[in-house]
Amino acid sequence: MSEALKRQAAEAAMGEIREGQRIGLGTGSTAKHFVDLLGAKVAEGFQCVCVPTSEQTAAQARGLGIPLTTLEEIDALDVTVDGTDEIDNAFQLIKGGGGALLREKIVAAASGRMVVIADVSKRVETLGAFPLPVEINPFGQAATARAIREVMAEFGAEGGLAPRRKPDGDNFMTDGGHLILDASFGRISDAQALSKALLDIPGVVQHGLFLNLCQEAYLAGPEGVIRLSAIRS
Ligand code: A5P
Repeated sequence: MSEALKRQAAEAAMGEIREGQRIGLGTGSTAKHFVDLLGAKVAEGFQCVCVPTSEQTAAQARGLGIPLTTLEEIDALDVTVDGTDEIDNAFQLIKGGGGALLREKIVAAASGRMVVIADVSKRVETLGAFPLPVEINPFGQAATARAIREVMAEFGAEGGLAPRRKPDGDNFMTDGGHLILDASFGRISDAQALSKALLDIPGVVQHGLFLNLCQEAYLAGPEGVIRLSAIRS
């Protein structure tokens, strides 16, 4: 999808941001537009303090002069704006295509509100066409992978489990020093039960299902940007 649509979604989400807020900054090509726009506002004197969800976003924000803090220094945020790989009608997400899912989930969970920005292609009837990223500890990785495959079989996965690799063929490592396995489900019919089953595996650090975290979504398409809200008003 075009950068122009991602930019439009990011511009629309700027309307959610207020002076003095503590803001979580997402990761990925859509969130990058939001960080650029926020950086331009900060350059004009806008006051805020932000927590980035990845080293990549931290570097971008630093370069733009956006004031940064951490969730070691403060314990809560007002709002987080982040992209997504899929969003369904119940505001359930699959995230982690960029490998930042653990920090993204910690930051979203510490935020009063999570606002998703995306192009409309990310909207789905049923989650699962996008492979679900599962972040695992390198220790015992073969045993953890076997346990994940068993959960996949139990939940009727249509595809396999693939280690995330870098373009040079080496294993992709997350900012937290973990590995990612991409689980191809095809369809995820009970995301809550799947979440619990994956988190019950000791070697699983986190997975990319974001449930009960997102309240607002700005989705950009050829007809313009639509705003979806989990809280009907
Ligand atoms: C990063 O780990 C992801 O969760 C991204 O937010 C997600 O993959 C969306 O990325 P794009 O905005 O690049 O599609």
